Amino acid sequence: MAISVLVGTQWGDEGKGKIIDVLTRDVDMVVRFQGGNNAGHTVEIGTEKFVLHLVPSGIFRNNALCVIGNGVVVDPLELTKEIKELRERDVEVSPKRLELSTRCHLIMPYHRIMDAMHEQARSEGKKIGTTKRGIGPAYADKASRIGIRALEMLDPKRFESRFREQAEYYNTIISASAMEALDIDAEWAKLAETAEFLAPFVTDTVLTVNKAARENRNILFEGAQGMWLDVDYGTYPFVTSSNTTTSGACTGSGLSPKYIDDVVGVMKAYTTRVGAGPFPTELLDDTGEFLRAEGHEFGATTGRPRRCGWFDAVASRYSCMVNGIDMLAITKLDVLDKFEELKICTAYEVNGERGTDMPSDNDEITIAKPIYETMPGWRSPTCDARSFDELPENARLYLNRLSELVNAKIGIISVGPNRDQTFTHNG
Ligand code: IMP
Repeated sequence: MAISVLVGTQWGDEGKGKIIDVLTRDVDMVVRFQGGNNAGHTVEIGTEKFVLHLVPSGIFRNNALCVIGNGVVVDPLELTKEIKELRERDVEVSPKRLELSTRCHLIMPYHRIMDAMHEQARSEGKKIGTTKRGIGPAYADKASRIGIRALEMLDPKRFESRFREQAEYYNTIISASAMEALDIDAEWAKLAETAEFLAPFVTDTVLTVNKAARENRNILFEGAQGMWLDVDYGTYPFVTSSNTTTSGACTGSGLSPKYIDDVVGVMKAYTTRVGAGPFPTELLDDTGEFLRAEGHEFGATTGRPRRCGWFDAVASRYSCMVNGIDMLAITKLDVLDKFEELKICTAYEVNGERGTDMPSDNDEITIAKPIYETMPGWRSPTCDARSFDELPENARLYLNRLSELVNAKIGIISVGPNRDQTFTHNG
């Protein structure tokens, strides 16, 4: 490994946390580059389970420096809470282990309220089903050039005046709705304390990342969410507000694309989605319920039940193309162990026409009828396999077919939640 970007190839929740944890064994630096605490990366170490929302997953490897890059939107109160909780569980999180970019935009309390207000105002069928963490409104302020950045926490007077100015503006909007206006003094008291706590972590991480690249260090860029939630390429408007795809790693960290050596795509052996929006292979029947139960498909951030469906090769092939995937990490293969047969969507039928490329128009994706091919299941446990050859023959055939359909090689296979239930493959 040299400089790698790891991204989700579907609608998020592909199991990135676990793969990152495995890949960070030999890594010097782990960088988050987009999203915020809408993400929930689960890492299981022995009997301990951690869910990270903002802190990069490299925090469990003592040799890795963790960086929250400029493309991330940071809720300072939530980051403080996460750092303190990790410390309580004996994970070292000091400014020597974690750096926060001066350029990160901050999620303020009014962003969370605006997120809820926007969702409430949307009519049925138009609601996005956001995580209500204030992600969209914070990115909107960044684009509108009225955001507050992490560097402002280094100067409490300036931070206070910027916060009060923005909070008063937002309170005029909030007061006109059914929502309760912000108690600005009370909110400022919390922020002032948190700014003092976070200040030692704030630095120009563009310099840190570029220095590491020049010194030929191993760097892993940790993507959050997934391809189909990307604000440009995803199922717009049912997306998040950042670039979740490979190119986001550069704009979100300040590293030139010329340094990127390879791209790892994390892909679940079936498909899930949280929140609203089109999902052509969704199963609304007992099979979907069974997948949810077997895969424990409940959101790591919001606890919401995830929508479940068959593997969608149309969406995944397009995703591998946009992301430039060099190597796939297939997760949750074991969840399919009990199925007699498995379906793979190989084409969509839209208004009577068959196509194998993902349409750009959300309305077309919404009415797309999935065309399936069926493969036999393996009906035996895979959780103890530690190599491709130890997998049942039908599982090997299933994986080979996925790889062929999405035009990308498989390099890692995961057959359970634990660190050791993972093996490499030269697919
Ligand atoms: P937001 O990112 O909270 O604005 O939510 C926008 C959409 O992205 C919603 O459908 C969320 O459910 C979805 N989303 C955001 N973060 C994640 C994630 O980490 N995993 C899966 N879905 C997510």
